[in-house]
Amino acid sequence: MPKLKIAPSLLSSDFSRLGEEIQAVIEAGADWIHLDIMDGHFAPNLTIGPPVVSALRRHSTVPMDVHLMLDNPEEFVDDFANAGADIITFHAEASRHPHRLLTRIRDLGCKAGVVLNPGTPPDDIEFLADSVDLVLIMTVNPGFGGQKFISGMLRKIELVRAMLGEERDLEVDGGIDQHTAPQVVAAGANVLVAGSYVFGSDSYLEAIESLRG
Ligand code: DX5
Ligand code: ZN
Repeated sequence: MPKLKIAPSLLSSDFSRLGEEIQAVIEAGADWIHLDIMDGHFAPNLTIGPPVVSALRRHSTVPMDVHLMLDNPEEFVDDFANAGADIITFHAEASRHPHRLLTRIRDLGCKAGVVLNPGTPPDDIEFLADSVDLVLIMTVNPGFGGQKFISGMLRKIELVRAMLGEERDLEVDGGIDQHTAPQVVAAGANVLVAGSYVFGSDSYLEAIESLRG
């Protein structure tokens, strides 16, 4: 399995101090910074766009993992790549031509991945599996931090790990804490997104280390 990586989600950080929050989690051992981009249509929330990602890029010495929860992701990948994204993932449910979009993201110099909502079966990406750098499995419904982990996703993680083989990253997002982290890792995940668990803790260092188990 690829190296275990922890990707704190800025959604639960202090938005008035984003640059400082990034530096604090990097000092605490974050491997990636996870950025949640929502348009109020695909996901019931509005967050940040390319200008904010661009401003934050200067504060990060680790990869910027941009999770697009947008309708028509085709219209936005160039802007996020230009803003400094290192990894761009988009939802299978939002893209009409996912293979074309994966190719576009890679042509822009980024790693490319597909995201699956809880209700989307893994079969939907079976024929894309050869074309992705990573897959992100939502373990809550997209939109908000602090939701409860959906345990039925453990079986999906196992199925997608079998599709991806042992070399590529399998990311999980939603409800990850010290109790659910060992379960998702046992099922085959190796990139753990955690928002409220990390940013809601008194010590980012202890929170990130506890996720590494
Ligand atoms: C939810 C976002 C997540 C969110 C996770 O739509 O994709 O990245 O920040 O938050 P927690 O870790 O609190 O479940
Ligand atoms: Zn996310």
